[in-house]
Amino acid sequence: MLDIDKIRKDFPILHQEVNGHPLAYFDNAATTQKPISVIEALDGYYRGYNSNVHRGAHFMADKATRHFEDTRTALQKFLNAKEDAEIVFTKGTTESINLVAQTFGKKFVKEGDEIIISAIEHHANIVPWQMLCEEKGATLKVIPVLDNGALDMSVYDELLSEKTKLVSVVYASNALGTINPVREIIKKAHAVGAKVMIDGAQSSSHLPVDVQELDCDFYALSGHKLYGPTGFGALFGKKELLEQLPPFMGGGEMIKEVTFEKTTYNDVPFRFEPGTPNIADTIAMRLALEYVDAIGKDKIAAYETELLNYATDKIEKIDGLNILGTAPEKVSVISLTSETIHPYDLGMMLDARGIAIRTGHHCAQPLMKRFGIEGTARISMSFYNTEAEIDRLVEGLERIVKMFG
Ligand SMILES: Cc1ncc(COP(=O)(O)O)c(C=O)c1O
Repeated sequence: MLDIDKIRKDFPILHQEVNGHPLAYFDNAATTQKPISVIEALDGYYRGYNSNVHRGAHFMADKATRHFEDTRTALQKFLNAKEDAEIVFTKGTTESINLVAQTFGKKFVKEGDEIIISAIEHHANIVPWQMLCEEKGATLKVIPVLDNGALDMSVYDELLSEKTKLVSVVYASNALGTINPVREIIKKAHAVGAKVMIDGAQSSSHLPVDVQELDCDFYALSGHKLYGPTGFGALFGKKELLEQLPPFMGGGEMIKEVTFEKTTYNDVPFRFEPGTPNIADTIAMRLALEYVDAIGKDKIAAYETELLNYATDKIEKIDGLNILGTAPEKVSVISLTSETIHPYDLGMMLDARGIAIRTGHHCAQPLMKRFGIEGTARISMSFYNTEAEIDRLVEGLERIVKMFG
């Protein structure tokens, strides 16, 4: 059992009033709130040892470098990667996916090849592949989605062939909550010789993830969706694969030696980390990972599933609202549509009651098009949410539906 009252004390932002009501924050899929330890780590770096990393000869630079690299080790453990060199620091999931599209794409994708994604992807896992396919004359194939928000896996079997170079799919959908059968997806892709990239932007905060057990080739995450700072993310890549990839961007730190005639590149992961990185946020990220670890990913998943079931049962009973995405396996995301109420109106009217949700297409326009809608009103829950907050949300939804009559 989680001690939610104690957990909530660790998140200062949750204790405020919005529009005269206590804040109920249900926009965790967009970004999560930060525990005090993360906030203090940011403050501690800037007050105490602000220095550049990897090249200073003095005490503070050494301390910054150690803390910076400690986050790499923490991520290696969090994802159960084999070694630190398999963790590349990036700005977030978006940059991680673009890094793979640009480097793996440059090296391994050629005209006539195919890349498979799914119909429930975030734009971050669509556009980089489209750009690559356009550049290389490759073809983008899409696993369709069933009416309940689960992928149509029988079509996946048909799409796979020896032309498939890479499969890139989301683990947990930000728009529907669907958890994809990534183990099966990975196994089948490997059987035809394709590599697999997992968009872990949402799964990282909700589910235990073990990249060795999954056997994915690449896994992307964003710190800010995992109780850490914005502007920090990571890419896991199998070392033997990363070592074969060309650099993503050129500059300082990613080199071994530069002459005007020729440059030799640094080892992985530094080959992919040019320039001064996001030091404070990287350092603070370790505290976020430690926070999540201390609670326990299994306990988080179990509690959030309880919240999801509790909210789903209550919301299903409200006439006039429909839940988009009822796949058998879901993270704690509920996407609402209504025939009479625009999602934006739902969002604004809940906001007037201090309840924060997200409305719109959730950066998944092709998915919205598939269901013939413009957008949804999305409630995304975290382990610091409570049943009492869900009761307030349900009461608010009932009133709004009644008003629109
Ligand atoms: C499933 C998914 N993929 C990718 C992203 C992009 O993440 P970021 O904006 O942190 O790079 C998001 C963010 O909403 C997401 O939910």
